[in-house]
Order: sequence, then structure tokens, then C-alpha cells
Amino acid sequence: MNEQLEQLATRAQGPLLFWGRSLRNPRQICSLFPSSPFVGRAMTDAIVSRPAPHVIELGAGTGAVSRQLIRNGVREDNLTLVELDPALGGHLRRSFPGVDVMIAPAQQLSELWAERQGPDVGAIVSTLPMRLFPKPMIRSIMKSSFQVIAPGGMFVQFTYRESSPVPLRLAKALGLTAQRRCLVWANLPPAAIWVYERAE
Ligand SMILES: C[S@@+](CC[C@H](N)C(=O)[O-])C[C@H]1O[C@@H](n2cnc3c(N)ncnc32)[C@H](O)[C@@H]1O
Repeated sequence: MNEQLEQLATRAQGPLLFWGRSLRNPRQICSLFPSSPFVGRAMTDAIVSRPAPHVIELGAGTGAVSRQLIRNGVREDNLTLVELDPALGGHLRRSFPGVDVMIAPAQQLSELWAERQGPDVGAIVSTLPMRLFPKPMIRSIMKSSFQVIAPGGMFVQFTYRESSPVPLRLAKALGLTAQRRCLVWANLPPAAIWVYERAE
């Protein structure tokens, strides 16, 4: 019972912590509200055909998407959360004690994954504020991610914008296809979910 109460208290801290960190670091967090459960659900739907069970989430924040990944079938031991902000990373570790949490920049994913000899990765989902990053940084995040994603796997990214969060020319130069999978209206603001895969 005490453990359940502790979990509830930790979860209740989430929105306040998210708000505080986004006021402190608006260019990194880039949102005042965590994603709605519908975003996490749509992202889970987009990865059902992944070739390996392990999933990495980039920019996990307070775990709004992580929670939905787990609720919709990703096993805790098949999930790794990557978050740059140490306060948010600590909160993730307390909220999801059974999940692997890396407090690290997403652009270093492939080196860190090789160092820790991580398992095959079927899919990466990301709520990073991609379009606010400079192009070389988007390039290194995508390159690093596809060094880790198994053949046949996918990278799923959300965006508040109309256009592809990874510039289409950049995706093409990296040998990737880009497809807008769906719009999630039940989010503030509404979000689009894009899927990137290796071209045949
Ligand atoms: C828009 S918030 C999304 C938070 C949460 N996943 C959600 O959907 O509510 C973006 C998150 O990405 C994190 N972030 C920003 N740049 C990052 C980077 N280079 N590497 C890892 N995480 C990063 C921020 O700290 C923030 O928690």
C-alpha cells in the first residue's frame, strides 16, 4: 500500500516538475504540457510491426508517452528511456523503477548503445523538439538512431507542425522514407505522428 501511495505521489509531481523545467529551459523542453495519452497510444500503434521487441524513447520528459507504451503492450524490460534533463531523468527513474533510463543526449545514442552492448532495437519513438534543433543536430540524431535500429525497424516522431519534423531532403540524404501516419487531435496543441524507415 505504501509503495502504491509513493508511486501516486511521484506521478502527481510530474506535471509540476515538467512545468518548472520548461520555464527554466524553454528551448530544450519546448512545451508547457506533457503529451496527452492519445499521442502515446498513436505512437505505440505505429510500432506494432517492429522487427525486435526493444523500444527506445527519446526525450521521455515525465513519462507521458512511456506510460502509454507500457500500457499498450511494450514490456518494461523492453524499454529504454533517454532524457537529457537530470531532474526529469531522476523523476523517470522513480516513476518507472523497472525501466532502463539513460540521462544522456539523444545525439550520442549509438556510441552509448554500443558501449553498453544494448539489445537489438525494433523501434525508436521521439517527442524531441526536432524542428527547433539545428539541421546538423537533427542529422546526428537520425544517423545515430538508425545505427541502432534493426533492419526493418522504424523511427516515430511527433510534431506540432504541418511539415515533416525531419526535413525531407535530409531524410532522403540519409536513405530514409518519411510518412505522416496520423493526426492526434486530442492533444494540446494537436500533434502529427511521422514514421521514418530505411528506403528499400
Ligand atoms: C516536448 S518534451 C516531451 C516530453 C514527454 N515525452 C511528453 O511527450 O510529454 C521534450 C523532451 O526532450 C528532452 N530533450 C531535449 N533535447 C534532448 C536531447 N538532445 N536528448 C535527450 N532529450 C532531450 C527535453 O528535456 C524534454 O523532456
